[in-house]
Amino acid sequence: MNYFKLSIFLGVVLSAYYYLDTYVLPTLYIFDPEVLHGIVKDSLAIVPPGNTTALFYEINTRLRNVYGDNINPYNTDDWMFNNAGNAMGSMFIQHASISEYLIFFGTAIGTEGHTGVHPANDYFYILKGEQWVHDLGDPDPIIYKPGDVHLLKRGSVQQYSMPTTCFALELAQGWIPAMLPFGLADTLFSTLDLGTFARTAYFTGKAMIESALRGKF
Ligand SMILES: *[C@@H]1O[C@H](CO)[C@@H](O)[C@H](O)[C@H]1NC(C)=O
Repeated sequence: MNYFKLSIFLGVVLSAYYYLDTYVLPTLYIFDPEVLHGIVKDSLAIVPPGNTTALFYEINTRLRNVYGDNINPYNTDDWMFNNAGNAMGSMFIQHASISEYLIFFGTAIGTEGHTGVHPANDYFYILKGEQWVHDLGDPDPIIYKPGDVHLLKRGSVQQYSMPTTCFALELAQGWIPAMLPFGLADTLFSTLDLGTFARTAYFTGKAMIESALRGKF
């Protein structure tokens, strides 16, 4: 192997990655984390406490008012289970594209696991219940409640739990396809739930293709 050519090649690839990551990726984002936080807080204020389904409809309607067809209409039939990082919950995909996803995620009974290490910022807006977070070196849990937002910064790692019922609106901004292996590994190597695998691939692929056809990457 010619090391001179190899180093030129690596230099070109790394420069292209740096350029795309720094200058192109952020221009693809349409969701504003502050706008989402406002929608969550306003919805929590008007929906009767205890009716989480009504909250999902309210937030989804408000999201569609701001972001139009980039948001799938809420539908209670289109949830799917998700196993990742040893945690189990369920999700409803509102939006997926190359640079962003926006989902409802949670569990009726609680779960615990590894956040994953992602090339994306992850905003977790609590709608119901509590999310507990363990930061390395901190012996006390950080507790997020309805209306709070937990930002898991790109590249960082934590242990998290939903001690009991907890649902959230989750926004990820970054390299979404690079997050998918973490989202599917527990299914392929542990649960072997091929029905859920097919459902996840179908809804994710559908959302990503529809976004691309609208010119949203
Ligand atoms: C909760 O909200 C949903 C959607 O608006 C509604 O269909 C349902 O009847 C409500 N449930 C209760 C117990 O009020």
